[in-house]
Amino acid sequence: MRWRPALAIVILLLTAVLAAAVFADVVELGSFAGPYRISHWAAWIGALFVAVYAPAYYFLRRARPKSAKLLLDIHSFGFLLAFLLITAHLAGQLSRPPQAYPELGEGIALFITMVLLVATGMMQRFAAPNMGSKGWYTVKTNRTVHVSLLSAFYIIIVVHVLNGLG
Ligand code: HEM
Ligand code: HEM
Repeated sequence: MRWRPALAIVILLLTAVLAAAVFADVVELGSFAGPYRISHWAAWIGALFVAVYAPAYYFLRRARPKSAKLLLDIHSFGFLLAFLLITAHLAGQLSRPPQAYPELGEGIALFITMVLLVATGMMQRFAAPNMGSKGWYTVKTNRTVHVSLLSAFYIIIVVHVLNGLG
């Protein structure tokens, strides 16, 4: 197996194991590290990286075509790691005790958006040859879906951060 798909799957498996560990209370993300809880640091770092690198990639890849491969690796693996951090935040929120349970809302929609971004990204990167250019769902369709989901991310993250900050 080539190393890129293998590494991508390892990061996704680690994400699942980390989420399970948080739900099982083996890993505690509610404790404070400086001004914020660990779960909030994870959310900030993950979401900021996505918000900044997504448009940055668009410009960098056109300005530096020679570095396209490196830029795409930062895109793929950087966003997979951001997804790991965001999943840790989600698991931390959903495993809060009943008396301090958050009101579920746009955070869930945001997480679904992230799952779809990662899924369509994985397809674009690793399954494109199998999708072909004929039929109702082509590589181009997948790319459009992948890029459009970014707008959903921006709209919902603004609402969520404003809600989170009260
Ligand atoms: C893509 C990134 C993110 C996802 C998927 C996500 C997901 C969630 C979910 C599912 C909840 C439970 C409540 C709800 O459903 O709204 C939640 C709560 C929370 N999130 Fe996020 N979050 C993300 C980013 C952030 C960021 C960047 C911040 C920084 C301000 C943040 C701060 C909070 C806070 C403070 C709560 C607790 C709200 C309460 O107690 O009612 N989240 N998040
Ligand atoms: C949070 C997650 C993600 C966001 C916001 C995002 C955003 C984007 C955007 C805006 C583009 C269009 C770039 C352009 O036109 O220059 C794109 C392309 C692409 N993305 Fe993602 N992406 C995410 C995750 C992923 C992941 C996890 C992978 C792979 C494992 C991936 C693989 C790709 C590929 C292969 C392309 C097409 C490459 C190209 O034409 O340059 N993406 N993505």
